[in-house]
Amino acid sequence: MKITVSLQALASGAAFGLAGLMWAVPASASGELTVYCSVQEEWCRPMVQAFERETGIKVNMTRKSSGETLAQIKAEAANPRGDVWWGGTGDPHLQAAEEDLTVEYKSPMLDQLQPWAVSQAEQSGHKTVGIYAGALGYSFNTEMLASTGAPEPTCWSDLLREEFRDEVQVANPNSSGTSYTMVATLVQLMGEDKAFEYMKALHKNINQYTKSGAAPARAAATGETLIGITFQHDGVTQVVQGAPVKVVSPCEGTGYEIGSMSIIKGAPNMDNAKKWYDWALTPAAQEIGASANSFQVPSNKGAKAPEQAPDLSSVKLIDYDFAKYGSSAERTRLLTKWDAEVGAAPK
Ligand code: G6P
Repeated sequence: MKITVSLQALASGAAFGLAGLMWAVPASASGELTVYCSVQEEWCRPMVQAFERETGIKVNMTRKSSGETLAQIKAEAANPRGDVWWGGTGDPHLQAAEEDLTVEYKSPMLDQLQPWAVSQAEQSGHKTVGIYAGALGYSFNTEMLASTGAPEPTCWSDLLREEFRDEVQVANPNSSGTSYTMVATLVQLMGEDKAFEYMKALHKNINQYTKSGAAPARAAATGETLIGITFQHDGVTQVVQGAPVKVVSPCEGTGYEIGSMSIIKGAPNMDNAKKWYDWALTPAAQEIGASANSFQVPSNKGAKAPEQAPDLSSVKLIDYDFAKYGSSAERTRLLTKWDAEVGAAPK
């Protein structure tokens, strides 16, 4: 809160000081900021607007999936163009930290955060931090299911059923952090050999590997697919909008994400990047999520968790090993193996 107030004071102070020059300077008198956003566009936009309103800083925002953003930051490393990477699953943020693509920053807001968000920061030498959490699962279209006559799916194993041939959708784990979370979750849940057997069998039921992680939840809502594997909160977004879908927390147990934020090494607007970082950890900024129909659990202990957010304490969560599955070697190895054994397999 204190930070928000002081940012506002700073912005109005700057505006006052520059009032006489109003005609000579562009509207971006407080400078600019480039944000790479990896949550849903519907949440990226109001975040940007709120920050611009409070600080007068002009934000350029691009929405891309987590794996794609990591690839972009890597490609731009010699000449960085982005300042902050906000949102997206934690594993690629941890990989970016390990590959020295992001910088250490200890926000004064750290002591207001949930232990899981702080441990994400500590794990990376404070090169990233947790901003929200959410559990993996799937949602299914109840009307389409009724027309097949099949019983409701409740487990990961149910997705292999014959009735679901070409009726399951999930993102490609190379571009999507959601889908990589699924690969790493299944490996931890079943052991690597069985997990790859499972994903190869599931491949027969997949109608499309999308680029973005949450797209399959929308596709289940509109009836493009019967089942969409996403984070559970992405299914909830469709339920609250009135879609005929039901969200499932798989009976065998499931993994989860610690959605993260990092400052890009060589950020052209480093001071503004830190302002965004501190602001994005305030309760007020984190509560923007729910108003944009995004129902993750926020990392600031003082931020109200949206009523609709799946209750993580009632989900059978695995003890997801972020250090291992967010390491560059393991993530690269699993993705290469997925490409060779699952993505490229005939149906
Ligand atoms: C959606 C979810 C977020 C998640 C993100 C990852 O936006 O709501 O919780 O972090 O997907 O996106 P990706 O496209 O990389 O799977």
